[in-house]
Amino acid sequence: MKHMTLNVEAFDEWLRTRFVELNNQLEALYWLQTDRANVQGVGEDLKQQLESEGRRHIAALLEEGNTDEGFDAAFDLLGNVGLYMAACRRHEITEPSRETHSPLVEASALAMHIGASIGVTPRFATAHLTTHNMARGGKYKRFTDLDDERLFVDYNTKGILAYKRAADALLKILPLGVSHPITADLLKVARQALQDVMDSNSTLFHELDTDRFFYCVRPYYKPYRVGSQVYRGANAGDFAGINVIDMLLGLCHANEQSYSQMLVDKFLYMMPEDQAILRDCMRRTSLMEHFLRATGSHKDAWYQENVRLFLEVCELHGQTAIQHHDQLVKKYISEPSVNMEQQHMAKVTASGPPLHVLIGALEKLRDRRAAIRRSDIRTAWNDIACLKASLD
Ligand code: HEM
Repeated sequence: MKHMTLNVEAFDEWLRTRFVELNNQLEALYWLQTDRANVQGVGEDLKQQLESEGRRHIAALLEEGNTDEGFDAAFDLLGNVGLYMAACRRHEITEPSRETHSPLVEASALAMHIGASIGVTPRFATAHLTTHNMARGGKYKRFTDLDDERLFVDYNTKGILAYKRAADALLKILPLGVSHPITADLLKVARQALQDVMDSNSTLFHELDTDRFFYCVRPYYKPYRVGSQVYRGANAGDFAGINVIDMLLGLCHANEQSYSQMLVDKFLYMMPEDQAILRDCMRRTSLMEHFLRATGSHKDAWYQENVRLFLEVCELHGQTAIQHHDQLVKKYISEPSVNMEQQHMAKVTASGPPLHVLIGALEKLRDRRAAIRRSDIRTAWNDIACLKASLD
């Protein structure tokens, strides 16, 4: 990697130290209130410092212009600007429903310059906090020092990396074919990786504190404005692997409206390399389809072994989706939202879809992945039943 400019380095250092301290102090003040969701009229001097110190760093970077330090440096800097903008939104220094343009003029200009030039959204994305977050002395970039934030980001990273391992193994089957003897090995790798997702999600579910997550972590992931446009919040799903698994297993279909809508919407939230993987995968025939075409070979040993393993992988993928929805989303989003004071509810969903719409969409995804029989959407329950029936 090329050498960082002094301004880039100074901003990065500020983000790793002073920025975290200011967020810590603000979180501590909000937490003391009876209504923990309120941020108005609290810590105004700290908010002012956060905004102006960040603005000074960013103004210097904007002035410096495009120094072409390569993709990695540009992506990293975009993440840093994004963390600053997301924190300003969390503390309501900016608020998209109050404004038509982001008041963070310099930050918006820098973010749009970089985002457009490297082919991603001009905001911080999941990759900035998880898979592309350089640690220094054992510590990677975060908003606060809260244990619950660390836990959340650690386990998002583990989950994403495990899904990616499963996706990579499944992709490697394509040039070998479903009857190849080594396909069994690759299905076993995918099976283990999905088991790793289950294990890591389960630890997160048992260890993450609901109130800390809901009041002190999640607010940093809200939608915010860059220039005139509102960009939705980052979520752990913004990588190609999860959809590669969906489509290669034949559980979800790129030509189905509500599924392809989600793919279209998420492209620019992913790293360019992930965008390329997903595009390629959308043009492939699924492994499910290949196995269904091969049912005439059901007497062969390869067929029995590979179909059995394939069905185990499908089953596990469904289990991870059920776990995400019925445990994580329910415990950390749906249930605490019910208890939240009504005045804040509008803000929870401001610029994003209403909660029940979001939950409905996530339920559809869960049921597709688990191949549940539904009359309103296409699921793979019948395909799975055909393959099961062909086993000895
Ligand atoms: C406290 C833990 C978590 C909560 C509360 C949570 C909640 C959510 C919510 C509400 C969404 C929908 C985002 C939106 O459209 O606004 C979402 C999406 C997603 N999350 Fe999580 N999540 C958690 C952890 C994880 C982890 C550890 C993974 C593993 C990689 C993960 C994978 C995904 C994926 C793949 C999506 C995209 C939608 C999909 O394809 O299912 N999540 N999550």
